[in-house]
Amino acid sequence: DWNAEHIIEELISDVQAQVGDGRVLLGISGGVDSSTLALLLARAVGEKLTAVFIDHGLLRLGEREQVEAALRPLGVNLITVDAREEFLGALAGVSDPEQKRKIIGREFIRAFEREARQHGPFDFLAQGTLYPDVIESAGGEGAANIKSHHNVGGLPDDLAFKLVEPFRTLFKDEVREIARLLGLPEHIRMRHPFPGPGLAIRVLGDITPEKLDILKRVDDIFISGLREFGLYDGCSQALAILTPIQSVGVMGDERTYSYTAALRAVTTDDFMTAEWARLPYDFLATMSNRIVNQVHEINRVVYDITGKPPATIEWE
Ligand code: XMP
Repeated sequence: DWNAEHIIEELISDVQAQVGDGRVLLGISGGVDSSTLALLLARAVGEKLTAVFIDHGLLRLGEREQVEAALRPLGVNLITVDAREEFLGALAGVSDPEQKRKIIGREFIRAFEREARQHGPFDFLAQGTLYPDVIESAGGEGAANIKSHHNVGGLPDDLAFKLVEPFRTLFKDEVREIARLLGLPEHIRMRHPFPGPGLAIRVLGDITPEKLDILKRVDDIFISGLREFGLYDGCSQALAILTPIQSVGVMGDERTYSYTAALRAVTTDDFMTAEWARLPYDFLATMSNRIVNQVHEINRVVYDITGKPPATIEWE
């Protein structure tokens, strides 16, 4: 019988035994795994933990502040790094999806290494690896590698830390239960997955600060709306996409020529196949009205009614 409180005590003493007086570095993505790990490690080693959250400018509205507000009061020694200019500079003019992922992966490692050197030396690198990740990487190049899902790649030799991976035997639901007991707020605990490259793969084509700003506002209306109408937990993942399509519209007496936003929500067990979520028409109508009223750069909203396969969940 699985007892979360008991597991937490066990994980903490295992970490203490492994780490001793060593210093631990942890990268925070804003998701449930790394956030929960931060809380666990803060309990286990306190100030010996340094958690680093890199803001690459491709996050959702208010996400950095949410992570700070969730972790700092619970004793996590958290450093947030504003790397927005570096990332957006490196991405300027790039429209190929795999190229975007490569650049983001590279910039991510660069920024992480810099922080590791600046705040180090560290003895350990902690990672929120779960049991299914262990299985998947043991299986080699799986179907998950159709897109290069690299968030953190290899680090150079002088930063070759020993790994601390307390969640290696756990499933996602178990981490969520541990998160609840450790006090992680519900909006992070129950959050949909969010890709490492973030909004970069949801601004189709080349990325500009203006397009990112438009998408952040659309996304915020959609995600907040799902929560407000009690539909969020029924979807496995929901996202907004800024398409490069401009089309003719009318606003008052004026003709407009503005962007089309796409909304996508799916249900799935494993993210390998997915169905589009049958969201109520009235809800979609409300979302569409809010988006075109509040985001003037958008004059048309479409809902993606394609399953996976053949479509992927992301549009890039
Ligand atoms: P697709 O679009 O392939 O996505 O159906 C399946 C799941 O993987 C996520 N995804 C990514 N996650 N880096 C990530 O960390 C990536 O490059 C990436 N691409 C897709 C996607 O959000 C969905 O949950």
